[in-house]
Amino acid sequence: MSRYLLAIDQGTTSSRAIVFDETGTIVGVDQQEFRQYFPRDGWVEHDATEIWDSTLAVCRGALAKAGIEAAGLSGIGITNQRETTVVWDRQTGEPIYRAIVWQDRRTASLCTKLKSDGYEDLVVERTGLLIDPYFSATKAAWILDHVDGARQRAEDGELAFGTVDSWLLWNLTDGQSHYTDATNASRTALFNIHDQSWDDELLKLFRVPKAILPDVLDSAADFGTTESRWLGAPVAIAGIAGDQHAALIGQACFQPGMAKSTYGTGCFLMLNTGDQALRSENRLLTTMAYRLNGKPCYAMEGSIFVAGAAMQWLRDGLKLISHASESSAHAETVGVNNPVYLVPAFTGLGAPHWDPHARGAIMGLTRDTGIAEIVTAGLQSVCYQTKDLVRAIQNDGAPLEGLRVDGGMSVNDWVMQFLADILNVTVDRPRVTETTALGAAFLAGLQTGVYESLDEVSALWECERQFHPVMTPALRESLYSGWLDAVERVCNN
Ligand code: G3P
Repeated sequence: MSRYLLAIDQGTTSSRAIVFDETGTIVGVDQQEFRQYFPRDGWVEHDATEIWDSTLAVCRGALAKAGIEAAGLSGIGITNQRETTVVWDRQTGEPIYRAIVWQDRRTASLCTKLKSDGYEDLVVERTGLLIDPYFSATKAAWILDHVDGARQRAEDGELAFGTVDSWLLWNLTDGQSHYTDATNASRTALFNIHDQSWDDELLKLFRVPKAILPDVLDSAADFGTTESRWLGAPVAIAGIAGDQHAALIGQACFQPGMAKSTYGTGCFLMLNTGDQALRSENRLLTTMAYRLNGKPCYAMEGSIFVAGAAMQWLRDGLKLISHASESSAHAETVGVNNPVYLVPAFTGLGAPHWDPHARGAIMGLTRDTGIAEIVTAGLQSVCYQTKDLVRAIQNDGAPLEGLRVDGGMSVNDWVMQFLADILNVTVDRPRVTETTALGAAFLAGLQTGVYESLDEVSALWECERQFHPVMTPALRESLYSGWLDAVERVCNN
């Protein structure tokens, strides 16, 4: 009899649930988009209740589509948009404020102050992160400072903090479980990645009371059991990882030197560095790859805030295309040697620039420039940004042996070939590009005995297509130096 795993993939713009069989093949998917709130310039919020409602609905939908009862599941894995911060009342389970989303920049001035007060070294040393509004710590403190009475209630143990994994877990278990996993904890800027515990000094620095924090477990662990009324039967929640970490697992990057790059709203490149928490000299992050059987595995990460979102903007904002799939036809007509550069710094720039004040630009326009050149520049910007990360990794002397790609844009052959060319690295695209959900399913499967070992999981990974670099070094260098010039013009650093 086949064994099935349900993966919850709670992302920035939609909640998804996927039922996998034990070979990692998809047997049922459901997805719901939910509302994005932009109350002020630079603010991004979600309604945490909507996140929970849509998640529950897609879990039920995916099971129905797969034709499977909850009782037939071996376990559930949760993966989620990271850093997004929820604070709720332990008694009522009601959020006390909307979820503050990872993209939200409202705490930028506090971060600038902490940096100028000289705290960045401490944060980098303990957490592997930089001081930036991206991470959860300043978002949690903001909620406690801006909701009436919240700080006192937090001190008194009446409130709970969680990233989205903890929020979903709390709801699925009717408040029985208040846990997170080491990967999600590593994105809060409150977690010491070396001794694997909440850091008292950082809690004090960011003014976050310990009483609101969840306990931190391995990524494959007994997180609790769903209340029967949600899915029709109790199911073990056996895996949790932040979405980029889950993608690394779904891509079976279990050896040091293996890397994946996920092209969703943003792009997140993660390199497995094994038991070494390597400190970057080039403004990349050190983070958890995963933690299994109490053993931490580390990664280096480059986070780009806008990748697929640039194509969305060309489609919905500028209306230059009506569907993202039209972009390749434009790129075919223009070719790689495009003199136009689009720097999609819509919400500042992430790694390796970390400039929250940078804004986007299109450069190199002439009388000959048309829609095709601008759309092609949008596609190329994703590859150039990945090159910035790979260059930073290489300058750090970290080993990078090939790159596995996934996420929406990875299905675009033109982009993947240009990526291989500009990086001068072989790019591997797997058979299942839903690697984020797959990683969550693998974690749940490891915990519930569906899989015995990471080797068994690795054996399920299959390459669908490889893209080999064919571009001449001279063209690569001249195209990339055009990009560096364009970025320099928008950066304030
Ligand atoms: O760090 C943010 C990241 O986890 C969000 O991923 O795929 O929801 O855009 P995604």
